[in-house]
Amino acid sequence: MASLISIRGLRKTYRMGDEDVHALDGVDLDFEKGEFVAILGPSGSGKSTLMHILGFMDRPSAGSILFEGHEVAALDPDRRAWYRSNRVGFVFQAFNLLPRLTVLENVALPLIYREDSDPARNAEAARAALERVGMGHRLDHRPGQLSGGERQRVAVARAIVGRPAIIFADEPTGNLDVRNVDRVLDLLGSLISEGITVVLVTHDLSVAERAHRVIAMRAGRVQEDRRR
Ligand SMILES: Nc1ncnc2c1ncn2[C@@H]1O[C@H](COP(=O)(O)OP(=O)(O)OP(=O)(O)O)[C@@H](O)[C@H]1O
Ligand SMILES: [Mg+2]
Repeated sequence: MASLISIRGLRKTYRMGDEDVHALDGVDLDFEKGEFVAILGPSGSGKSTLMHILGFMDRPSAGSILFEGHEVAALDPDRRAWYRSNRVGFVFQAFNLLPRLTVLENVALPLIYREDSDPARNAEAARAALERVGMGHRLDHRPGQLSGGERQRVAVARAIVGRPAIIFADEPTGNLDVRNVDRVLDLLGSLISEGITVVLVTHDLSVAERAHRVIAMRAGRVQEDRRR
């Protein structure tokens, strides 16, 4: 069966003055449906660049990306926006919730950009996603009224509300204490039973060990790719 995402010869080069920075320097990888993958590597090794490109937030300089069988490396902005809001979800280290919106409104937000958006249906989907992450009792709170672990669970709800094929989590546990690290990792790991692929970026070896596959990056390349 074809992979969910299949990338070949992926490069991202930034021109800085008269020097080229090779953030990604020829990456070949396949991600399967329902995999829990950790990407490990030192600062500057290209982890975030890879996630931003695979999440349609940035474009590669060269290479091929097959996403659900379609070549997406050079799509026009409208098609990229469609993939971004329909096929991928993001979780960030700093949560990135909007402080003036309630928990329910934050989670419903990704849905309002969709063509078939409907307020009552969006709210129902947001409530279901919040129940899924154990936050169904905090719908009317603002992010500032939640603990860090709770905020990250809300962010996970926002990432899954649109039923994405894949979730990219960039250091999602970097701001959490040990107990909440476990809880958020359990939650992310449980998404694979729904067929969602989870790609988690971390500096932390003990976090990476929770995944079923660990990809080590170094200087814009895949140094090691180990399934367990
Ligand atoms: N917009 C940009 N312009 C120029 N260089 C960039 C840009 N974004 C990233 N880089 C460079 O590309 C390389 C890879 O950056 P990236 O953010 O992907 O690293 P990372 O592995 O996520 O690091 P960290 O663990 O610190 O988050 C770095 O050397 C960085 O300085
Ligand atoms: Mg990074």
